[in-house]
Amino acid sequence: MQIIDGKAISADIKKEIAAEVAGLIDKGQRAPHMAAILVGHDGASETYVASKEKNCHSVGITSSVYRYEENISEQALLEVISFLNQDEEVDGFIVQLPLPKHMEVDKIIAAINPDKDIDGFHPMNMGRLVLGEDTFIPATPYGIMELLQRSGIETAGKNCVVLGRSNIVGTPMSLLMSRNNSHANATVTLCHSKTRNLADITRQADILIAAIGKPEFVKADMVKDGVVVVDVGIHRIEDPSKKNGFHLCGDVDYAGVAPKCSAITPVPGGVGPMTIAALLMNTMKAYRKNMTKK
Ligand code: GUN
Repeated sequence: MQIIDGKAISADIKKEIAAEVAGLIDKGQRAPHMAAILVGHDGASETYVASKEKNCHSVGITSSVYRYEENISEQALLEVISFLNQDEEVDGFIVQLPLPKHMEVDKIIAAINPDKDIDGFHPMNMGRLVLGEDTFIPATPYGIMELLQRSGIETAGKNCVVLGRSNIVGTPMSLLMSRNNSHANATVTLCHSKTRNLADITRQADILIAAIGKPEFVKADMVKDGVVVVDVGIHRIEDPSKKNGFHLCGDVDYAGVAPKCSAITPVPGGVGPMTIAALLMNTMKAYRKNMTKK
């Protein structure tokens, strides 16, 4: 059984990006620049944004964070987006989600310049993804595609079952795996909360991608021997036996499922680090786009 080491593969990608950035600086060009807009004080969002900043710095990408209190108006946030859209020195930016309830998320995302939308959430970029055109691929599915490719996992002709149909993970994941290219070409089934006989379907999977947001949902009797499992979930479970009072688990019951797998991603250290690497790759893409415009 192969444990797919997302941490190591992410480190490889970061090394490649760091070398590219160093080359740009040697040539006298400015460093790429990513910005993040963070509204409010959601704990998970604070952690994500801090990690994005740290990782940018580690590869030589400039990062800035625009912080606002929970009560910022939608209009004021739209003005910040307009400012970043026009700032030639900012190559790409994200609006960290979730946003406060008084904001219309779709309206906020639609205001981002699609050429700077390194999350790939803008309808224009989602449309390009559906059509198989060049676009910013959302970080989690992009990271998973890289993880499979760099781990030498065969996908062509395989049955791939995706659990979860979110805009950010499940839906783009299903599109990418079914694309006509040498790193995809899978036969994809997208399952969700209304799917009947779920275990009958997951047992057909050669590749199972779990992104349903339920701790340890996928059990050993739901997979066949030799399956490749990609676990997108990350949950904090209270655990008095741990010094910090919790342990992490994914959407997959790792202890039960792993012995049946030919390969599996651990939690933590699987998909999580790849998401950051993918965002850095998207930042480099936005930088190249921005520089060729001038
Ligand atoms: N919140 C959780 N995941 C994400 C992400 O990938 N991008 C943004 N902008 N917010 C998130």
